Amino acid sequence: MMKIMMVCGARPNFMKIASIVSAIDEYNANPGKTKEIERLLVHTGQHYDGKMSQSFFDDLGLPQPDVNLEVGSGSHAEQTAEIMKRFEPLLKEAEPDVVVVVGDVNSTIACSLVASKTQYSGRSNGTGSRLNSRKRPLIAHVEAGLRSFDRTMPEEINRILTDSISDFLFTSEENALTNLTREGVDPNKVFFVGNTMIDTLLKHKAKCSSSSILQRLGIAGVQASDSSIDSIPPYGVVTLHRPSNVDDEKTFGGIIGALSRIAEDLPLIFPVHPRTRNRISEFGLEGSFKFENERPQQVSRGIHGIEPLGYIDFMQLMSNARLILTDSGGMQEETTILGIPCITLRENTERPCTITCGTNRLAGVDSEKILSLASPLVQSIATTAGAPKPVSPPLWDGHAGERIIAILADKLIF
Ligand code: UD1
Repeated sequence: MMKIMMVCGARPNFMKIASIVSAIDEYNANPGKTKEIERLLVHTGQHYDGKMSQSFFDDLGLPQPDVNLEVGSGSHAEQTAEIMKRFEPLLKEAEPDVVVVVGDVNSTIACSLVASKTQYSGRSNGTGSRLNSRKRPLIAHVEAGLRSFDRTMPEEINRILTDSISDFLFTSEENALTNLTREGVDPNKVFFVGNTMIDTLLKHKAKCSSSSILQRLGIAGVQASDSSIDSIPPYGVVTLHRPSNVDDEKTFGGIIGALSRIAEDLPLIFPVHPRTRNRISEFGLEGSFKFENERPQQVSRGIHGIEPLGYIDFMQLMSNARLILTDSGGMQEETTILGIPCITLRENTERPCTITCGTNRLAGVDSEKILSLASPLVQSIATTAGAPKPVSPPLWDGHAGERIIAILADKLIF
């Protein structure tokens, strides 16, 4: 038996972990397997609101976590330390062979750091197998090697540190190997497997198209469940949650100013992250938004602020949008596969293949620059119905999770 402990904590983790969970289940269902894989799912509780966490478990059919550490919010130090304190005894008790961490959130670095220093006490059963002689868990980092080269981003620090202590570095795009090699990582630890977030998108695409979110928001008519994108009135989708964009009043105000001008021609739907919601109140920006929840009047010009959406509803909303404006990393990748123009409201991206292979453009946060990129797109939406063709970067084919489990089984069991 090989024991794999998987860690998730924040919203973007759940899609990535879902692919690994389903790959383990498929592996175990194979009658030709050498050994069973036991899986343990740990939720750190970094995100805890129903709309930021449980709705993703429901939508993705994820099993309930075996353990929820319930750490909640705090400063970076408080949150990271609390996860480490609560994760250590769990790890020592469960003694997994591998700890799988995904992405770049505080839960990722906290749990990998604990795993790197843990020593198992009584672990030797005399079988002589490589599995049972292990004194600490191996660390597998999914989405390794991405770099924005911007160390003011907490996620960049989490990525660099996690990669430097991981035993398996599973990469999603080809240039990650160059980044890791430059940092002195042994290339034998690096495995280019593809993108687990895209595995989940491809798996759930058909289910997403049955979501009624467009009707509930008044974008499409009640009868429009069979609508093609051409018959759905054009709209754009916005998400913003990076502290560098929303915590600074001047920066956030400038972005909202640009969005308001875009929204004069293209209605914008904005599912608002809790951090962003707090800043909108704090900075008195409510006047720039129309805050209606389900079923407003026909979707009209302006910025429509709504509650965060679950995975299936959000994918349906995004898939039918004509333009995305975001500071999310995952959405840069999802729009690449969906072939939807994406304007990224950041100065850099750790996912450059979304620019070279995909439809992503970097606008930064200057309102004139945002408008200069968005305006021609908004004008072309009014005159043509054509969307860019979806592009698949290498290995974004729906099988990254299976590759990860095949590699772990091969290296650990045989
Ligand atoms: C975290 C990740 C970020 C990821 C994002 C996705 C880190 C360093 N940041 O940022 O990389 O892109 O998640 O959403 O790990 N809050 C709630 N309910 C929740 C969770 C948070 O109300 O369920 C509020 C709290 O006020 C909290 C704030 O949102 O203080 C920020 O949450 P936090 O997890 O600290 O960071 P995110 O901005 O979500």
